[in-house]
Amino acid sequence: MKTGVALIGFMGTGKTEVGGMLARKLGKVFIESDALIEEKAGKSIPEIFRDSGEAAFRELEIEVIKELAGRKNAVIACGGGVVLNTINIERLRRECVIVLLTASPDVILKRTSGDEGGRPLLAVDDRLRQISELLKYRRPFYGRAADITVNTSRLTPEGVVKRIIGKLKNYEGYR
Ligand code: S3P
Repeated sequence: MKTGVALIGFMGTGKTEVGGMLARKLGKVFIESDALIEEKAGKSIPEIFRDSGEAAFRELEIEVIKELAGRKNAVIACGGGVVLNTINIERLRRECVIVLLTASPDVILKRTSGDEGGRPLLAVDDRLRQISELLKYRRPFYGRAADITVNTSRLTPEGVVKRIIGKLKNYEGYR
């Protein structure tokens, strides 16, 4: 039986906000992989990207997911690029149901506006185009990883949590 939930999905799909609420509702511990990466590196994510580049960030992400993946009774909000290294998903899958949150490029653009500083991959001139291109590349990775998918475009965070809980009830192998 799996006792955890891993939230995956593009930046701005609500993993952090939904994850916190979901963990409270389910009586599980909330963990954010990006926060642990920052702790480990002693720097913010934009600083890691700036000083060491994306590849170094991905290495840290792999280490942190490896440490987290075995935890029981956790809701883990993962960074948007966690799916790019399949080993992360293989590790998470052992203890967690993988829940994918999706949203349209327009909604993602709106939700991430004003936080380009915190998200180095969106610190570009044409953000909508960047979002569309990254999504196009990543979609198959997200699709292959997901056990459960919830489109968040027209839902409040509370609505997303309800939808996830409903789907978890029907998911065999989770408690
Ligand atoms: C990333 C998403 C970010 C963070 C980093 C890279 C990505 O997390 O891990 O900036 O590659 O999509 P959020 O999805 O929580 O913004």
